[in-house]
Amino acid sequence: MTPLGELLRSQIEKDGPIPVHDFMKMALGHPELGYYAQREPFGETGDFITAPEVSQMFGELIGLWAVDVWAKLGGPTKFHLVELGPGNGTLMTDILRSARIAPEFLSSATIHLVETSARLRKKQADALADHNVTWHEELPTLSGAPVILLANEFFDALPIRQFVFTGGRWFERLVTWQNGGFEYTKSARPSDLKDAPEAKEGDIYERCPDGEALIGRLSNLLRQEGGAALIIDYGAEDALIGDSFQAVRGHRPVDPLVAPGEADLTAHVKFAIFKKIALSQGVTVQGPTPQGRFLERLGIEARHYMLRKEATEAQKKKLDAQFRRLISAKEMGTLFKAMALSHNMAAAGEGFGN
Ligand SMILES: C[S@@+](CC[C@H](N)C(=O)[O-])C[C@H]1O[C@@H](n2cnc3c(N)ncnc32)[C@H](O)[C@@H]1O
Repeated sequence: MTPLGELLRSQIEKDGPIPVHDFMKMALGHPELGYYAQREPFGETGDFITAPEVSQMFGELIGLWAVDVWAKLGGPTKFHLVELGPGNGTLMTDILRSARIAPEFLSSATIHLVETSARLRKKQADALADHNVTWHEELPTLSGAPVILLANEFFDALPIRQFVFTGGRWFERLVTWQNGGFEYTKSARPSDLKDAPEAKEGDIYERCPDGEALIGRLSNLLRQEGGAALIIDYGAEDALIGDSFQAVRGHRPVDPLVAPGEADLTAHVKFAIFKKIALSQGVTVQGPTPQGRFLERLGIEARHYMLRKEATEAQKKKLDAQFRRLISAKEMGTLFKAMALSHNMAAAGEGFGN
């Protein structure tokens, strides 16, 4: 058992089963033993690879999306450029490089990174050494200027609650220690869950309290200050039922309960719930739209063609594989979705069609 597993086991033996939410929160976020505190998650040698790490094309196109948003906000001489969960800092680096086509965008931006991992903050500081950056533990209170915010594979890392439908009622799904390992069980009493969809025996329903609260805060911020947020993550456009709690270790799927602290735990983002919250706060929502279509609309084919023109045969092969990985339905193109929230823009942001 992992050191964090031992800690969770003794806690469960002492106080009883814990919600899936608490298991996931500890496994990812424990300050010393949690996944983001101790593992090197990204890249070929890590546990998974995210879109900005696949290819520079991803961040460059998002940089152009951001410049377009800025222009449609009237080209403000001061605005907040925020990224949630910046990982290695690759996305922000690529955004800032492609935004050089609009020097006033760069000179007007105040950069904020929301990151809880001290280890990743160091990486971000190295990657962005040429820029003035402020770090935050959570979305800061920003005022006096519009906001352009980006979040790639951030919401899938926030802990979820799971509910299981049995005997006509919803119960919270818990984790217990039994038979020498972690196992699922359910709460003794039914949950007072509101707004649950129709379900049949054994169905699982997931909610992400931190993610939902954050979408509420973000929508409020956009309504007050103007601006746009681009959220890219994996999940269905509108399906709500299903168990999406999952773990990856060394690029392989593993049981989420087996190695807490040493495997990356995620869950699908429920775009339909986020959308409902944002709309109820009066902001404009575009998408969710598949990542492949979004990148095509932003011009990934032209960017790929330009990079290929200068490349050797070996580099061309690599570029083609990266291109496919980002947009193909068999890879990241369909499962990943893009959704934008915005307020006070002169026209709709790019990438979502009409
Ligand atoms: C899956 S990684 C994605 C990294 C990056 N966006 C990318 O696409 O490569 C999740 C990121 O969110 C950060 N993170 C996770 N939970 C967080 C939280 N509650 N608050 C702030 N950052 C968090 C992680 O440390 C990491 O940087």
